Amino acid sequence: MTSIVLYCRPGFEKECGAEIQEKAAWNEMYGYLELKKNQGIVFFHLHNSDDGELLMNKLPLKRLIFARQWFVSLTDVIDLPEYNRVEAISEALGTEWQYADLRMETADTNDGKALTKFCRKLAVPLRQGLRKAKVLTEKNDKDGAILHALFLSGQQVILGFSLAHNSSPHVMGIPRLKFPSQAPSRSTLKLDEAFLYFIPKAEWDSRLCSGMNAVDLGSAPGGWTYQLVRRGMMVTAIDNGPMAESLMETGQVKHKTMDGFKYVPMKQNVYWLVCDMIEKPQRVAKLMSEWLLNGYCKEAMFNLKLPMKGRYQQVTEDLQAIKDAFSEHHVKYELYAKHLYYDREEVTVHARLLSPAPQK
Ligand SMILES: C[S@@+](CC[C@H](N)C(=O)[O-])C[C@H]1O[C@@H](n2cnc3c(N)ncnc32)[C@H](O)[C@@H]1O
Repeated sequence: MTSIVLYCRPGFEKECGAEIQEKAAWNEMYGYLELKKNQGIVFFHLHNSDDGELLMNKLPLKRLIFARQWFVSLTDVIDLPEYNRVEAISEALGTEWQYADLRMETADTNDGKALTKFCRKLAVPLRQGLRKAKVLTEKNDKDGAILHALFLSGQQVILGFSLAHNSSPHVMGIPRLKFPSQAPSRSTLKLDEAFLYFIPKAEWDSRLCSGMNAVDLGSAPGGWTYQLVRRGMMVTAIDNGPMAESLMETGQVKHKTMDGFKYVPMKQNVYWLVCDMIEKPQRVAKLMSEWLLNGYCKEAMFNLKLPMKGRYQQVTEDLQAIKDAFSEHHVKYELYAKHLYYDREEVTVHARLLSPAPQK
């Protein structure tokens, strides 16, 4: 039997599990779940041992909303000796396969954080040992396999692999972003991460550049506006609440105190619409598809707040409503959603039309 191990935000194991089980079933692959409650770890045990690698080849990680990172297990839980851990791991791996890189991982919990120090210490001799055994190549190979070592404790590890082109480049799928001291709210990291995650760096010059116009709905005090301003954009910020003075002083921000659901841009030259309004996700989803279909903006980045219960179902319904609206107008589109590291009770969605919006 093989398992797929998935990492998600602690407390979201049920959603992450339900999603992988459903999307695997679409590919006629079946298995059962083992959730590590509040540890952000999900095991999906597949009935057919070939299905782990097959599923990883078929299903892009980008299509999973709640999983930050994943790998296919190569071993069960290995009990490590107090000494010679490197040898024990090498032995369990054998020499048949080669890996382009190694990720040492833990649960995203306080206990997990405490283990990180241990992992960092072990990483040096482990890398050396695996290099010597010619198991770790450290070649920058986008088609290569990545070796994952998930440490449950200092004495227990599970080994597995992911495919470099279909896994997160970050350990446990967590990018570590620095909070910019001039930003007026911690929310700023959500949009920073969203741009990093959804927009390929090679396209930043044309899709995230200076001189663009942007609208920020639910903007106060300005953490998201800050990310647009720092990229040289001109921003119309919509919120009844006050915006940080430091942002207004840049001369790049126009603040309108009004309802974000009523605002309509005067000139149709808005590139980015961003939206972090705390509102019913159905309402936000509808508003976002209207903006794109009316040609008010070219791309939208927004949050859908999650309910207390039925979170996976709700977000699936909201995304489906957006897809239905786009399909009704026969437009081609790109639509991805992710529960990002800096998100809490919300998921971030990126949408853009790839064919022109219908003429009115
Ligand atoms: C989570 S905060 C936004 C934080 C902001 N993105 C930042 O980074 O500083 C949500 C904001 O949405 C605003 N809001 C909620 N409903 C709104 C509406 N209908 N129109 C405009 N703003 C709204 C609230 O006033 C609040 O300031």
